Amino acid sequence: MMKIYLAPLQEYTEYSYRNAIHKHLNYFDKYFIPYISYPKGDKLKNRQKRDIEIVNNQFDHIVPQILAANKEEVEYLLPFLEEYNEVNINFGCPYPMVTKRGRGCGIYQDLEKAKEVIETTLNNFKGKVSVKLRSGLKSHDSWVKMIELLNQYNLEEIIIHPRTASQLYKGEPEYSYLSDLIDLSTNPVVYNGDIMTIADYNHLIEQYPNLSGVMLGRGALTDIYLAQKIKEKRTTESLTTLIEIHNEVFEEVRKQTEIERQVIQKMERFWDYFSHHFENERKVYKNFKKSKNQLDYNTALSFAKRQGIKKRES
Ligand SMILES: Cc1cc2nc3c(=O)[nH]c(=O)nc-3n(C[C@H](O)[C@H](O)[C@H](O)COP(=O)(O)O)c2cc1C
Repeated sequence: MMKIYLAPLQEYTEYSYRNAIHKHLNYFDKYFIPYISYPKGDKLKNRQKRDIEIVNNQFDHIVPQILAANKEEVEYLLPFLEEYNEVNINFGCPYPMVTKRGRGCGIYQDLEKAKEVIETTLNNFKGKVSVKLRSGLKSHDSWVKMIELLNQYNLEEIIIHPRTASQLYKGEPEYSYLSDLIDLSTNPVVYNGDIMTIADYNHLIEQYPNLSGVMLGRGALTDIYLAQKIKEKRTTESLTTLIEIHNEVFEEVRKQTEIERQVIQKMERFWDYFSHHFENERKVYKNFKKSKNQLDYNTALSFAKRQGIKKRES
């Protein structure tokens, strides 16, 4: 059975979200925590710290991720993750602010640094190590050298998102080299990118049966039942579950700050994707987007509930 993972999406798949999804649905084989990175000052960002704290991560198969450019950054980050049994290295983040510092996909500028990051992680972390990567910075040809490097190590798996950093999250993923990559890699290969429906998933695994798993990002946020549909070929969609998930996320977010505006802003982000579960999704989303205070928010929520769950093709 192909493994199904929930992708890390900074500010979306935070612990509040992961915990609610896991409690109500529990169809992911692994849940990835968005990256933690070397801080500007001397302290990890509160948001990142909260997200990796063990009290907030009380079930198995949660995998934290590090975004690091070199040995020093890895050595700073790993002690925060001692209680986990797997860590993922982010060689994929595409944003110029990140890549110009040699982090994320920027590691492609100097594969000696990639080697340093991997070896420091393997030497300092007692559990399994996996790597998430892209095709390259600007071209889709860079992966060969990277896979040859990764082949020197015994990794848990590698996760390929076949876009270049320049593409960010837009344009088509490049499928033309995927078979060659799977053949070349001595480590198990997980695919990630643009799986939005069961049809996308079926098509992918038909073409690439030697994949060991698939990671779902935006597709799983847009349809929280996607992993269930893939695994069980049925779905238990219900408005009650949606509202319970919402309420649990909301409660956690409210614990994080006293400031009403911040809670609402954060929940607005949640509704970016969650609104797709409702009839009149655009209107549902707009109401949350327009909310200025708790009263507006409650009205928006009542409206969403009245619209009910959206009927989907798949
Ligand atoms: C808003 C946003 C935040 C993301 N944050 C991370 C992150 O922290 N770590 C990471 O490895 N990838 C991150 N990604 C990339 C996703 O994990 C995934 O690789 C990408 O969205 C492609 O998969 P999808 O098409 O299934 O969404 C992020 C993507 C988005 C859109």
